[in-house]
This record gives sequence, structure tokens and C-alpha cells, in this order.
Amino acid sequence: MLEVTGLHVAYGGIQAVRSITFHVNEGETVALIGANGAGKTSTLKAISRVLDAVGGDVHFCGEKISRIAPHHVIRKGIALVPEGRGVFPRLTVQENLRMGAFVRADNAGIEQDLQKVLAYFPRLQERERQLAGTLSGGEQQMLAIGRALMSRPKLLLLDEPSMGLAPIMVQKIFEVIRAVAAEGMTILLIEQNAKLALESSRRAYVMESGEITLHGESAQLLDDPKVRAAYLGE
Ligand SMILES: Nc1ncnc2c1ncn2[C@@H]1O[C@H](COP(=O)(O)OP(=O)(O)OP(=O)(O)O)[C@@H](O)[C@H]1O
Ligand SMILES: [Mg+2]
Repeated sequence: MLEVTGLHVAYGGIQAVRSITFHVNEGETVALIGANGAGKTSTLKAISRVLDAVGGDVHFCGEKISRIAPHHVIRKGIALVPEGRGVFPRLTVQENLRMGAFVRADNAGIEQDLQKVLAYFPRLQERERQLAGTLSGGEQQMLAIGRALMSRPKLLLLDEPSMGLAPIMVQKIFEVIRAVAAEGMTILLIEQNAKLALESSRRAYVMESGEITLHGESAQLLDDPKVRAAYLGE
């Protein structure tokens, strides 16, 4: 469904992503793990066209999307939950969720999905009229995921959903991510928390200094001595 070929991202002279190639099949959850500065966010930004890649191609559902305008990416069915969440602080929870559906015109479907998202996240349901800027970090992460789901995407891109959150919040958020995946969503999950990411995905790629150094079935990577030593603190 998503094919990234030779993707290269640079900031001036800094090579952030060095010709990486990977793919995500329909219905899969694929993790991209790696340390700080490995190039994970840069990869997602290039896929979602928030920034221009220096080289390489991105194909989505067979169509080349590596040169389209950023606002067209969401219309193609790709929703990004960015690092740092990016909720609209002065809008309510419900208004934020509705903003996620701005590309849609099927009002009945939107109402249905709104109820579904609120059922996934009871904490958001209790806070429907609260301003998003007053939510806790974990609640904002829930809202960012919920807003992305409101576009009814084919592919969900998640940039470090566990970042800065208490374990109980991380657990709640990952329960929803797994539930969404179980319903057939295709997910590219970026995480620094390698254990969580490998436990929540079918396949994974390991990024180091802008390159993919390892990939395979997540269950096998969890048992790989190199991965255990470098990423699971053993
Ligand atoms: N706007 C920018 N200008 C210059 N360099 C940047 C910019 N954004 C990222 N970089 C550099 O690109 C490299 C990769 O950064 P990136 O944010 O993609 O890493 P990451 O894997 O997402 O890290 P983290 O886990 O800390 O979020 C880093 O060396 C970073 O300093
Ligand atoms: Mg990042």
C-alpha cells in the first residue's frame, strides 16, 4: 500500500535520511524504531509532504505521491498524527475531532465516526466541550489520534504516540491503536519505545543515523540479541 524507495531527506548540509527503502502492506502495522535523531520524524514528514525530500519516491496505492501538495495527501487517505500532537488549543475536543473530518462530505458517516472515536476514548467523551489546550498531554495524544481517525484514513502515520506519557496513559493509547489495527487499519508506527512498538506491530524497521540497518518480523526482532542490546536495554 505504501512504498518508499530511496527516500533521501536533508536539511542544508545535514543528511537526516539516507536513501531508505521500505514498505507497508495493506492491513499491517509496521514499526519504525530508532534512537533520537535517527531520522524517523523526517521520514514521516517527507511521506506526508510536510517537507520536500531531496530524492527518492513514495507510492501510495500504486500512485506516486512524492510530488503532490501536502493538503492533497490527506485526501488520498493518509492521516498523520504528528510528534507533539498539534491539536487546536482554542477549539473544544469535539471541534477538534470535527476538524479531522474536513475532507469529508458524508455527514452521516462523520457522526458515526465521531461516536466511534468517543467510544474508543471515554476520557474524550467526558471532555467533549473542554478546550483542547486545557487537556493533559495524554488526553491531547488521544485527541490527535481521534482527529486523524475522523478523516477515515486508509493509512495512519503515528509519530511517537508514547512520548512523554505515564505508563498507564501509554497503555490506554496502545490499546486503542491495537483495536484500530484489529479492525483492518494500515498503520506506520514510529516509536523510540522499541519494546512497545515491536509488541504492537507485525514487521519493523530499525533506523540508525538516517539508514535502515535491520528489518524483519517484529516477534523475531524482539528476540534478536543486537536489538535487545541496543534498544531493549539488555
Ligand atoms: N528543521 C531541521 N533543521 C535542521 N536539522 C534538522 C531539522 N529537523 C531535523 N533535523 C536533523 O535531522 C536529524 C533527524 O531528525 P529527526 O527529527 O527525523 O529524528 P527522529 O528519529 O525523529 O528523532 P527523535 O526520536 O528525537 O524524534 C537530526 O540530526 C536532526 O537534528
Ligand atoms: Mg522524531
